[in-house]
Amino acid sequence: MLDIVWDQSYSVQIAEIDRQHQKFTAMLDMLFEAIEAGRSQEVLAGILSELVAYAVYHFDTEEQLLIKHHYPEFGAHQKEHEAFRIRILEFQRSFVAGKETLTHDVVKFMTHWIAEHVMNADMKYAPFLNARGVF
Ligand SMILES: [Fe+2]
Ligand SMILES: [Fe+2]
Repeated sequence: MLDIVWDQSYSVQIAEIDRQHQKFTAMLDMLFEAIEAGRSQEVLAGILSELVAYAVYHFDTEEQLLIKHHYPEFGAHQKEHEAFRIRILEFQRSFVAGKETLTHDVVKFMTHWIAEHVMNADMKYAPFLNARGVF
């Protein structure tokens, strides 16, 4: 079990975004458990690829929403997404090529990155979007 679980303190008061954050956390937990259970590299690669795809999808959802409402700090926000996107895509490539191992530390790094990003960057746009009727 991961040391971070989604609870109300992570809520940005936007139903779809909260749902995606929860799903992403659940997927990270699934990957963590799969490593714990000693699943094959193929199984881990499958979960990792779903997770990467979901992160890309989630960032896209947020970015579209922020563009739509002309969020003034869009550039900085997107930069954070981009850094993580590049990092996990690179990790995935190395993992599939057999150059990296999928460990608990890798999943923890992703989990902590996401938790930190939600608590700071996502929380920052929350009141801005809420004030524009986005819930
Ligand atoms: Fe987010
Ligand atoms: Fe974000």
